[in-house]
Amino acid sequence: MDFKLTIQQEMIRNAVRDFTEKEIKPVAGQYDEERRFPYQNIKKMAELGMMGMNIPVEYGGSDVGVVAYSLAITEIAKGCASHAVTTSVTNMVAEVIYEFGQEEIKRKHIPKLCNGEYAAGSFAITEPHAGSDAANIRTTAVREKDTYVINGTKSLITSGEASGVIVAWAVTNPNAKKGKGISAFVIEKETPGFIVESPEDKMGHRASPVNELVFDNCVVPANCLLGKEGEGFKIAMMELDGGRIGIGSLAVGVGFAAIDFATEYVKKREAFGKPISSFEAIQWMIADSYTELEAAQLLVLRAAFLKETRQAFTKEASMAKLFATEAARNVAIRAVQMLGGYGYTKGYPVERYLRDIIGTTLYEGTSEVQRIVISREILNR
Ligand code: CAA
Repeated sequence: MDFKLTIQQEMIRNAVRDFTEKEIKPVAGQYDEERRFPYQNIKKMAELGMMGMNIPVEYGGSDVGVVAYSLAITEIAKGCASHAVTTSVTNMVAEVIYEFGQEEIKRKHIPKLCNGEYAAGSFAITEPHAGSDAANIRTTAVREKDTYVINGTKSLITSGEASGVIVAWAVTNPNAKKGKGISAFVIEKETPGFIVESPEDKMGHRASPVNELVFDNCVVPANCLLGKEGEGFKIAMMELDGGRIGIGSLAVGVGFAAIDFATEYVKKREAFGKPISSFEAIQWMIADSYTELEAAQLLVLRAAFLKETRQAFTKEASMAKLFATEAARNVAIRAVQMLGGYGYTKGYPVERYLRDIIGTTLYEGTSEVQRIVISREILNR
């Protein structure tokens, strides 16, 4: 076993770290406050190869591998969770189109996702009544000659208003057993009958809009189908496995940002005549936080390595996401505590880290869904 990164992985991590310091960190607080999507930074990040990190070069990707991707998402998240989730979901959308799309659809959309011509991609499975129970969606797609006519509503869709292309799931065979009659489609932003509603006003990830998307007799060409009819649910599950590596990586980044900031703070802040870093209560918070985050990162990188080397990684991705998001949430709470009353104010970034990290235990499968996946994998082994 070798825990050493390759030279290329280290270079990518360092380059993304530099970019985050220079371009992301300085604007993160303001963009959070204003709920502003970071169009300019996303374009620059695409130009640096961050939007198609597991996509072959011939489709416009940088093809650097899943471990490098995980390291990059962690570095971006140290600056801003909204930038990181946009990057993670856009990479996931490029990957699902690459894995299951027809050649002309791949050639049409993947380069634009990778080069930033599309500011983002969206993964639209969730519906108002079907979040964790994803096989229970009600959006329909009816085949009519060379097209599908799509009707229904998607909710809480990350980057909905910013995306050039979305992948959406719909029921093509309502008589099939649960989960067997669902198909996935690639839908362009400009398609008539595709309506993007106003963004939700969220607690965290405020620079990453989530929108309701409405399909009102939205007609798409039949070649927009991903895989075969009825394979959609499995495709979603497979892609979410990869997505969960992205969110675990993101959580690790937010957690490190929180404890790094709090650790610097306690070295300077004095109480009872000495820096509060000299008190054991604070030292233990530091020790627990770094231990938990380093353990989380090992789980995340293991899942990334398994995916990169084409081994099974469903259980490992869910373990990584579950552990990393919950560990980082605990760390962010401690970071607020370490700053005392100031940690609760907008004058310091730790309150944003805490707001942001709460979202990560909810999207791409709640912690409870990860526990379902992990226990099923173990019990059915
Ligand atoms: N890989 C391949 N196939 C898989 C799979 C996987 N990881 N997981 C399940 N499947 C297959 C199963 O083998 C089964 O196929 P067969 O019947 O042929 O064996 C089929 O899919 C159905 O699987 P389940 O019986 O496990 O399905 P279920 O209805 O019990 O659902 C669930 C299980 C794990 C709860 C699933 O519904 C789930 O993951 N829910 C959470 C959904 C989610 O993560 N949503 C996030 C939205 S996207 C998002 O947040 C992105 C963003 O924008 C930030």
